[in-house]
Amino acid sequence: MTTPTQSASSSTEVAIRVSGLEKSYGSVHAVRGLDLEVHRGEIFAILGPNGAGKTTTIEILEGYRQRDRGSVEVLGIDPGRQRQQLKARVGIVPQQASSDPFLTVEETLQMYAGYYPHPKGIDELLTVVGLQEKRTSRVQRLSGGQQRRLDVAIALVGDPELLFLDEPTTGFDPSARHEAWGVVKSLARLGKTVILTTHYMDEAQNLADRVAVVAGGRVVALGTPDTLGARDVATAEIRFRLGEGPRPPEGLDGETDASGYVHLSSLDVTQTLYDLTRWSLETGVELEGLQVLRPTLEDAYLHLIADVEEMA
Ligand SMILES: Nc1ncnc2c1ncn2[C@@H]1O[C@H](COP(=O)(O)OP(=O)(O)OP(=O)(O)O)[C@@H](O)[C@H]1O
Ligand SMILES: [Mg+2]
Repeated sequence: MTTPTQSASSSTEVAIRVSGLEKSYGSVHAVRGLDLEVHRGEIFAILGPNGAGKTTTIEILEGYRQRDRGSVEVLGIDPGRQRQQLKARVGIVPQQASSDPFLTVEETLQMYAGYYPHPKGIDELLTVVGLQEKRTSRVQRLSGGQQRRLDVAIALVGDPELLFLDEPTTGFDPSARHEAWGVVKSLARLGKTVILTTHYMDEAQNLADRVAVVAGGRVVALGTPDTLGARDVATAEIRFRLGEGPRPPEGLDGETDASGYVHLSSLDVTQTLYDLTRWSLETGVELEGLQVLRPTLEDAYLHLIADVEEMA
């Protein structure tokens, strides 16, 4: 239909396009008709339970694994056929990376720099991942989190347009995780595209422009972290404890639990809060610890996964 040149130029807005992807390992049908589109400059997160097919999908996109069926386009290139062309333009942080334990951090980065025509400087890479102090340490002496930072530095050596991060912050302490998010965001600001997998809901919430939930080898939900599973429009719960005085009128009295909290569901939070606070001010009855609770990303995720497991 289109020539290769046309398809490359028409895909400037799309970094990754996957359609009907399938992959089996013997009798294990790991990916079962997966569709995905990642835009250029976007941070895209894939969430999903263990064995959902996330790593398999990422490795097919990297050209590291061959697909059985479906079409895949990464930066206008078919990774199954033109892996070499893709290699110079992408950076990869695999789920399980292994650097030579006897090389130093600096030697490791120098070695990778040798593979690329225009590598980034070692100083800049060390600064980006916060490993300046460990420049001359051997890899085997680094902590788990420090080794993961080195993995990220390795992925950045070739100044890639697109980054694949498969569970990039597993094993990081909370402050290292926040620093890593800063690094990823700064890469996105430079126009790079980032596709990552994670089991951390706060990571997806903080980092991702869009999230895909993958279960059983398929995308079961797609959206921004705030709208996933329609949690932005889900029924909200209003919660409070009543001070001394009369009970609220019917419709505002909800259900009281064993610890004395009143739980009130509302589809129109503004109206319910207005009615409730007006009643409180008129009667002088305090609404102690008043809160509005919406489903979290984790609630939405668990709900989506439970639906898939029920169907299986
Ligand atoms: N090399 C392999 N040989 C055989 N089976 C494999 C291989 N790699 C993955 N699988 C199987 O394919 C399925 C998907 O695995 P995959 O690694 O893609 O999942 P994942 O979503 O990345 O999981 P996790 O969150 O645990 O990393 C699993 O059932 C797994 O056991
Ligand atoms: Mg995986």
